[in-house]
Amino acid sequence: MTVLRVRGFEIHKGLLDVSAQEALVDAIRGVVSVAPLFQPDTPYGKPMSVRMSAAGTYGWFSDRKGYRYVRAHPNGRPWPAIPDNVLAIWDQVTGLERRPECCLINYYSDGARMGLHQDRDEADFKWPVVSVSLGDEGLFRIGNTTKGGKTESIWLQSGDVVVMGGAARLTYHGVDRIKAGSSTLLPKGGRINLTLRVVE
Ligand code: SIN
Ligand code: FE2
Repeated sequence: MTVLRVRGFEIHKGLLDVSAQEALVDAIRGVVSVAPLFQPDTPYGKPMSVRMSAAGTYGWFSDRKGYRYVRAHPNGRPWPAIPDNVLAIWDQVTGLERRPECCLINYYSDGARMGLHQDRDEADFKWPVVSVSLGDEGLFRIGNTTKGGKTESIWLQSGDVVVMGGAARLTYHGVDRIKAGSSTLLPKGGRINLTLRVVE
């Protein structure tokens, strides 16, 4: 296991072994059986290509009214609890007492992408955001703390964990594409990304 530092992001390559990845997929299956994946609209009215759900007190949501955290799934039910094996990753890589209140689940099928953005809907940027990659590889692009400028890209593989914190907490990032068929973890293919966030 190696830790790469790219523009202040800490990339724990291969932190999770295959059995840990399988256990996470099982746990996420449990979450999405209660809180099914849905396709949010951007504030501009176009559906996002990524499908989403969440666990925890809050889920992230988007529609024509904007980006925000909400306490219930669009079906009206509260989000399920964040699975323990997901929280354990946060504990391991952050060493913080404070725990996240949101585990956003992003599912990328072949062709899905996420444009460069900052994560800035949280109340306090002193807390990091932790991202966990499962399934097919995703080409992760890292920019700057302000819009524009040069970017660097790195393939995130199943079992990689990224800590976006400190001076890089507001660094622009996104996913340009998925490499279909690059992992056998998910029977139907695609990529799951979990992001853990302290919201309040
Ligand atoms: C995100 O920025 O919310 C997702 C990042 C990723 O899919 O790796
Ligand atoms: Fe993000």
